[in-house]
Amino acid sequence: MKIVVIQGPNLNMLGVREQNIYGPMKLEQIHAQMKEVATQNGVEIEFFQSNLEGELVDKIQECYGDADGIVINAAAYTHTSIAIRDALAAVNLPAIEVHISNINRREEFRKENMIAPVCTSSIVGFGPFGYHLAMMGMFQIMNEIQAAQEAQTAQQPA
Ligand code: DQA
Repeated sequence: MKIVVIQGPNLNMLGVREQNIYGPMKLEQIHAQMKEVATQNGVEIEFFQSNLEGELVDKIQECYGDADGIVINAAAYTHTSIAIRDALAAVNLPAIEVHISNINRREEFRKENMIAPVCTSSIVGFGPFGYHLAMMGMFQIMNEIQAAQEAQTAQQPA
């Protein structure tokens, strides 16, 4: 099983940018924690960050046939990007979106969310711990898919 973690614009500035909102943790530290949990659970994990919308679209497309699930924080593109939304819909993989801050309690423009309707689930406002919750959620989704596949195989005549 492989999870791809996709991080949008300015998330490479975590630990520096608006610490009162996003906290002191750097992206590398968040990824190191995720990697540890993935390894403990025998899951492959890949990380990708870009400030460019097209590169994020390319990465989502690359997940098709390569990954079993996507964890994505599209950052500011969450509120504007039909292209990222369409890419997620196109690959049709289980996808969990994470927002470090609670986007529903901030400026009005952050309540607009292009991504959420094509994601399996959204985790907002837990700080960096949201990424851990997303991984736990993804493991659960994978287990459910596997159980459903096994049940289907068992039903097929020998
Ligand atoms: C964010 C919330 C977005 O509104 C913002 O543009 C970000 C980070 C979050 O993780 O809380 O860059 O996605």
